[in-house]
Amino acid sequence: MSPSQNSHVNRAPLRVVVLISGSGSNLQALIDGQQQGLLDIDIVAVLSNKADAYGLIRAETAGIATRVLNHRDFADRDSYDQALITCIDEFEPQLLVLAGFMRILTPTFTQHYLGRTLNIHPSLLPKYPGLHTHQRALEAGDSEHGASVHFVTAELDGGPVILQARVPVESGDTEDSLAARVLTQEHIIYAQVVQWFAEGRLRLNGDRAELDGAPLSTTGAS
Ligand code: GAR
Repeated sequence: MSPSQNSHVNRAPLRVVVLISGSGSNLQALIDGQQQGLLDIDIVAVLSNKADAYGLIRAETAGIATRVLNHRDFADRDSYDQALITCIDEFEPQLLVLAGFMRILTPTFTQHYLGRTLNIHPSLLPKYPGLHTHQRALEAGDSEHGASVHFVTAELDGGPVILQARVPVESGDTEDSLAARVLTQEHIIYAQVVQWFAEGRLRLNGDRAELDGAPLSTTGAS
């Protein structure tokens, strides 16, 4: 079986490892979904590159194993990502969920988990990859903004988009008000996509994301 195939159908809850760097509100949405029986997942570990990430407290409160791997303790990106792979693989995840994990990943890392890594990004990709997405949408005078869930590939914020949520940009919006409106939608679409994966309905096929065998998008498309 190729690593990009999703073979999880009608079995035990999908083993999920979540990577965070901060607040972890998307992590919380997944914890809530799991606890409410809405998501067929078992979040087996939460990893952070920051020891003070509030998401670690959310995980501990939910009784989930946590690990901190500080990138500052490593000489370079390659050695950090190797250590991250070792740490993650101890938990034997079937799916890796990046939930506000603010690190650029090496091709070695992305290839290792190809087809089983999801990311959420606060823009309507391919618009605004990278940082400061809300500010950029405001500065561009966009009338709508949003978030995208995509498969992770070697290209930063560039893997095939699976699902997007759109929100209006309202007059008087600040970066914070717009970010909050987008974040509410992030929680909904991320849970939906994770459940699709848990049901074995979602897979990466080459540069395409497919749901029930039908293409959703290709690399970089919205
Ligand atoms: C979310 O808005 C997520 O889309 C963004 O970080 C925030 C994390 O919030 N991710 C990125 O910008 C990745 N490029 P959370 O910690 O409350 O889930």
